[in-house]
Amino acid sequence: MLSIGLLGAGVVGSGVKRILEEKFSEQVCIRKILVRSDREKLAENYTTDPYEVLDDEEISVIIEAMGGIHPAYDYVSYALSHHKNVISANKKMLANCYDELMETARSNHTTLRYEAACGGGIPLFHNISRLQRSDTISSVKGILNGTCNYILSEMSTGLSFEEALQNAQKLGYAEADPSDDICGYDTQNKLSLLCADVFHTRLKPEEIPLFGIDRISEVDSEIARGSSRLIKLVASASRTENGIEAFVMPVFVPWEDSFASISGNFNILRLESDYLGRFEMTAQGAGSLPTADAIVQDLMDIHHTADRVFEKGITDLNTNRYRFYINTSNPEVFTDITKHNLITVKVTLQTLIDKIKEANDPDIFVALYEGDYD
Ligand code: HSE
Repeated sequence: MLSIGLLGAGVVGSGVKRILEEKFSEQVCIRKILVRSDREKLAENYTTDPYEVLDDEEISVIIEAMGGIHPAYDYVSYALSHHKNVISANKKMLANCYDELMETARSNHTTLRYEAACGGGIPLFHNISRLQRSDTISSVKGILNGTCNYILSEMSTGLSFEEALQNAQKLGYAEADPSDDICGYDTQNKLSLLCADVFHTRLKPEEIPLFGIDRISEVDSEIARGSSRLIKLVASASRTENGIEAFVMPVFVPWEDSFASISGNFNILRLESDYLGRFEMTAQGAGSLPTADAIVQDLMDIHHTADRVFEKGITDLNTNRYRFYINTSNPEVFTDITKHNLITVKVTLQTLIDKIKEANDPDIFVALYEGDYD
């Protein structure tokens, strides 16, 4: 059994607790949870004393989900120098204290992992380090703040900036101080971390030019719409002949660009590398469970506790329903499920398979038809 200590039981910490309890109760025990006040103490293992967690000899991994630079930095630093591996989601602390924390981990032979600190649920650092074994990444570009992306998506459907921000706060996407999101500091911190991993270059957050979305108006969104574009807050870094060009800035993205389809709290990261070429990853970038999922992935990477058990497969073709495109010389068989010409109403795969058998047409062509059909 692996014993862990959890620092913080807010949006992210409670997500970690839920996943570990639901999926890993046999392998992982949350021995102590640090909370801010006595009011949050819900059970025996909750404490307001950080050293009850940090000095617990049974605990080998600390998960830091507190946010802010201090006291998080002090606790993480203490843990790393006291034989504990640390997983942190705290981009602000990591981006601002990267060198010190990495040196503390290195000199104490401990590990500091931070998949959840950038891109939420996207396994981006994992994929970057795999790719770098054989390839060289020349640029990264991403939508890395779920709150801003949510606000911009909502504004493009007519909601005001203030209403959209309030919703993002209710949904648990925004930072404790939401100006970190809307002024772009959060994205700047994330890009600083990316530059360290991708280019092995330490760019401090304040060295990255920053333009936020805090001054955007509905008129700006309308102008973007009028030119078949959407405004997105984009982080970009690339190698030039002289160094690294990095910036965070709202971008008018053409509708046909994949960035334009990233809506709500989703993030995306696009890499360009010498051999693989363009590579994009997308997932929810903010919110309790997607962020917690990235933390749990780090935990599993540190301790391969779970042996894979394969269950006997049960095929289920009768639950999900889809629209299908059908091109056949025997269309009569499909008339009861075909509403518009060649496109079916939503049916299960089993229904489709049965109909195909009945049609007995060796030249039939079928495809899954995604998106709306009017
Ligand atoms: N406030 C951050 C965001 C949380 O909206 O992206 C995830 O890092």
